Amino acid sequence: MNWDETAPATADDARSGRLVGADADGEDQAVEAALRPKDLGEFVGQERVRVQLDLVLKAARQRGGTADHVLLSGAPGLGKTTLSMIIAAEMGAPIRITSGPAIQHAGDLAAILSSLTEGEVLFLDEIHRMSRPAEEMLYMAMEDFRVDVIVGKGPGATAIPLELPPFTLVGATTRAGLLPPPLRDRFGFTGHMEFYAPAELERVIHRSAGLLDVFIEPEGAGEIAGRSRGTPRIANRLLRRVRDYAQVKADGVITREIAARALDVYDVDGRGLDRLDRAVLTALLKLFGGGPVGLSTLAVAVGEERETVEEVAEPFLVREGLLARTPRGRVATPAAWTHLGLTPPQQGGAGAQRGLFEG
Ligand SMILES: Nc1ncnc2c1ncn2[C@@H]1O[C@H](COP(=O)(O)OP(=O)(O)OP(=O)(O)O)[C@@H](O)[C@H]1O
Ligand SMILES: [Mg+2]
Repeated sequence: MNWDETAPATADDARSGRLVGADADGEDQAVEAALRPKDLGEFVGQERVRVQLDLVLKAARQRGGTADHVLLSGAPGLGKTTLSMIIAAEMGAPIRITSGPAIQHAGDLAAILSSLTEGEVLFLDEIHRMSRPAEEMLYMAMEDFRVDVIVGKGPGATAIPLELPPFTLVGATTRAGLLPPPLRDRFGFTGHMEFYAPAELERVIHRSAGLLDVFIEPEGAGEIAGRSRGTPRIANRLLRRVRDYAQVKADGVITREIAARALDVYDVDGRGLDRLDRAVLTALLKLFGGGPVGLSTLAVAVGEERETVEEVAEPFLVREGLLARTPRGRVATPAAWTHLGLTPPQQGGAGAQRGLFEG
């Protein structure tokens, strides 16, 4: 066999088209607009952020002013974009949507800022990916509602100050740690979005099923919620796949049984692990006695790239407490053995071999 034919896919290949991936795919983008809650009352879960944000917005409305700048941080698919739109709706303000990568030059940002109307919400997605010069312009805009537009080049260049109407910046980031402190400090309110509890996801699923005209029993919603990795985007996606199955293989009603059968067909197990996740765990348990084993060795064993195992599979396995990263390598937890229906080896059994697999 030729190596190229068996060469593992890249991490991006493994990520795209993944049923339990948290990033939005084309279909998600097409349907999400219809499923987005329109106001804070409809927004499920995130109790802390919701209560705090409600106060910030109510107070601003009472003062008849513009709300403070808001930073929303959290993993993909937890509702940052949704909340930004809710903020605008609650303030009765228009929203302008752009993203860090779309702002290459400070001039791009100046053009957007100078066209804002009073009270408008500017949503800056992936704010951690903005260019440095744009970031510096943003500091001044956020604090003083003013930008310096540079006209001309070289020694003859002059800065023309431009007044901006008060606006509310809503920044979203999946990587709050990458934001420079001066930028982070200029937000009046920061909301950290958490993963959702199964009961909250059940409410998301019932709500979406209603909007999609799908009949679902409470146990059916529970089954999907348990496999959705704490993420509304994944819950909505699994709901659509289960709906397909219920329509083709049954009478369209999603019962617990139908949801479980459908998701088994799609290789999403009872805890939301897919084939790749289970391949990594299975190799770790069956080939390496539960570890510790080096990442590269583990990746070769499952025929994937190192990055795929590390960035696509591991974060959820670690979050679920199925796998631990230790200085000596990857180690399975007792929960991993249980989840795959295997018995952990006797203490010291696999231990004699452990040194072999480090690296
Ligand atoms: N609290 C919620 N209640 C109901 N539905 C939600 C909630 N949060 C998110 N959703 C649903 O999940 C989908 C994804 O949410 P959203 O696009 O806001 O995530 P995001 O945090 O912006 O993700 P990304 O980091 O990929 O941009 C939305 O279509 C929305 O329908
Ligand atoms: Mg978003």
